[in-house]
Amino acid sequence: VPADRRAVLRRLYRGLDGFGIPAVETDRIRAAGSSATYGELMPTATLRLLARLDLGEDDALYDLGCGTGKLVLLAALTRPLARATGIELSPTRTALARRALARARRSTRLCARVCSFRTESFLRSDLSDATVVYTCSTAFPTPLMRRLAGKLARIRSLRLFATLQDLDPHPAFELVEILRLDVSWRRRAAVHLYRAHPGRR
Ligand SMILES: C[S@@+](CC[C@H](N)C(=O)[O-])C[C@H]1O[C@@H](n2cnc3c(N)ncnc32)[C@H](O)[C@@H]1O
Repeated sequence: VPADRRAVLRRLYRGLDGFGIPAVETDRIRAAGSSATYGELMPTATLRLLARLDLGEDDALYDLGCGTGKLVLLAALTRPLARATGIELSPTRTALARRALARARRSTRLCARVCSFRTESFLRSDLSDATVVYTCSTAFPTPLMRRLAGKLARIRSLRLFATLQDLDPHPAFELVEILRLDVSWRRRAAVHLYRAHPGRR
């Protein structure tokens, strides 16, 4: 695994840590029927996942619950994407993501128009141009996962959905692979990769 990219990531995130957020934010995320539990896909694992997603210049990638935005930044730094967007309910975490993005713009050739971060619930987001969606969804409550699956099933451009928590059987999603990737809380966590057949009910 290219050590240089891990070194870039370490530099971009020096002093920026998404694990602790103010209690008011945790309460607000819970009140929205969600979970503020934090954890991250490890850098090497992120690069492996990004390679498997086969991202090209027509792709619009979303990380739903992006935390401090490492997957979004690594994607933009390593893949020829149209857009990479992180959606996150915690304003503390999106602020950290934007700081890392500002550093990336100063110190790398990261194309400024590719990356963005939004502080909102992904259930309310406009995801209509998404082609690939990732979510580190382990702690998300079942009703939230169901609503998310229903929302993604209607996006016509969607081709792949990668999620740590598996989906209930759904005609719009076909499980193609279970990757084993290291996350911050355990080794070899299951990451479910679904091919999307939007519009199927
Ligand atoms: C396990 S963390 C994932 C961090 C990031 N994807 C990574 O791998 O580095 C999940 C994040 O989802 C956020 N979250 C939970 N529900 C959300 C919602 N409805 N909309 C946006 N973000 C949400 C949480 O605040 C938390 O930061």
